[in-house]
Amino acid sequence: MNYIYIQEAMKIGSGKVSVRGWVHRERGSNKLKFVTLRDSSNVIQCVFEQKDFEKRWDEIDHLQIEASLEITGTIKEDKRAPTGYEIHVEDYTLVGSSDKFPISKDQSVEFLADNRHLWLRSRRMIAIMKIRSTVFGAIDEYFKSSGFYEYHSPVFQAVQCEGGSTLFSVDYFGKKDVFLAQTWQLYAEPAIFALEKIYTISPSFRAEKSKTSRHLTEYWHAEMEMAWSTFKDIQDHGEKLIKHVFKKVLENNKEELKILERDISKLEPIINKPFIRMTYTEALKVLKEKHQMDVEWGKDLRTIEEEKLTSLYDVPVICTHYPKIVKAFYMMEDPKNSEVVEGCDFLASEAHGEIIGGSQREHDLEKVKQRLIAQGEDPANYEFYLDTRRYGSVPHGGFGLGVERLIKWVCGLENIKDAIAFPRTMERYKP
Ligand code: 4AD
Ligand code: MG
Repeated sequence: MNYIYIQEAMKIGSGKVSVRGWVHRERGSNKLKFVTLRDSSNVIQCVFEQKDFEKRWDEIDHLQIEASLEITGTIKEDKRAPTGYEIHVEDYTLVGSSDKFPISKDQSVEFLADNRHLWLRSRRMIAIMKIRSTVFGAIDEYFKSSGFYEYHSPVFQAVQCEGGSTLFSVDYFGKKDVFLAQTWQLYAEPAIFALEKIYTISPSFRAEKSKTSRHLTEYWHAEMEMAWSTFKDIQDHGEKLIKHVFKKVLENNKEELKILERDISKLEPIINKPFIRMTYTEALKVLKEKHQMDVEWGKDLRTIEEEKLTSLYDVPVICTHYPKIVKAFYMMEDPKNSEVVEGCDFLASEAHGEIIGGSQREHDLEKVKQRLIAQGEDPANYEFYLDTRRYGSVPHGGFGLGVERLIKWVCGLENIKDAIAFPRTMERYKP
């Protein structure tokens, strides 16, 4: 039998077809049974008539949600059917019967999380996972077509890069100074001397104790690092990357965005309009003028302030030149003002928050050492990294993009947990 996807069968639209999938919905009487069959491409209504299956009617009558079926029958247009087509079943095989499926309507968030392995089959999760697939492909495509090599860093690391408070320790054969990667960065900088322009998409780990709608403990991190960059190059690549991803999702996933009830008009400016670029100091001025909010110079922007700032625009804000004291040790001091650094946060529109963090890197060996010490680190543990400043150092920089945050934004999700199949948070690491 030549099985085709439901979507293809509907495109053919008439005649005999064979499809296979899972029972999405079922209802019936003693004469007719309606099964909505689901495969990865779509759903379709299938009708069984009792008179065609007298000997097997008991089996058909007892078909449960999520039983798997192979079906052959005649397809035709039917305006009343959920997706506009119906298959009149002529033959079928019950491949795998199903116990009573635990997920039905109106279940709590907790229940769905406990049954995540089954909830993945929902149309909502299928739509998100398809968009996620597009997003990963688009990131890859952007970097490859811009001359970046794919490069991989270790997950077990004996250094911190984004602050000790979010490190996950690992028992490494009894050794305790081993952590899961927060970022590839300290292992990426050494490689730009070999490959110049590199990128990766890989998991990063943060022991986030905060329960927010945008923090995971394990997330996928798209990072890039490049030799000879200017600070502007870093911002330009971040903006072009986001535009490319949004464009690809709009091209490939209109159906999925519809299932998620995403307002597409919100996505178009991201592709077509330049992002807003402003310094931290300018951002404080805007917050004061437009929202009467006072932020003391030198304090990091909090979520509420980021949201108020971005609510003024329909594109992201690239906020630059933060105070040195609120940013990581590796960020380049601004040559014109040593109080601020050439670091940037991309703050998404629609209150989705920080999507990208990046910077030009400090290449002065002594300054890097001093700032490590100021953060309570022993520079001796960073010798391999400091060598990047000893042997032919060049201006360079890079950024990291939180892929689930980007998916949350493009899909318009309320919580980052739905942007990944099996989310990991402080409370949840099962199933
Ligand atoms: O701003 P962050 O901490 O920057 C870095 O890790 C740099 N070393 C990246 C680089 O320059 N190569 O993290 C980068 C991005 C954030 O902007 C955010 O989108 C995402 O990673 N992120 C998280 N996403 C989900 N859950 C978390 N707990 C996240 N922490 C950071
Ligand atoms: Mg950051």
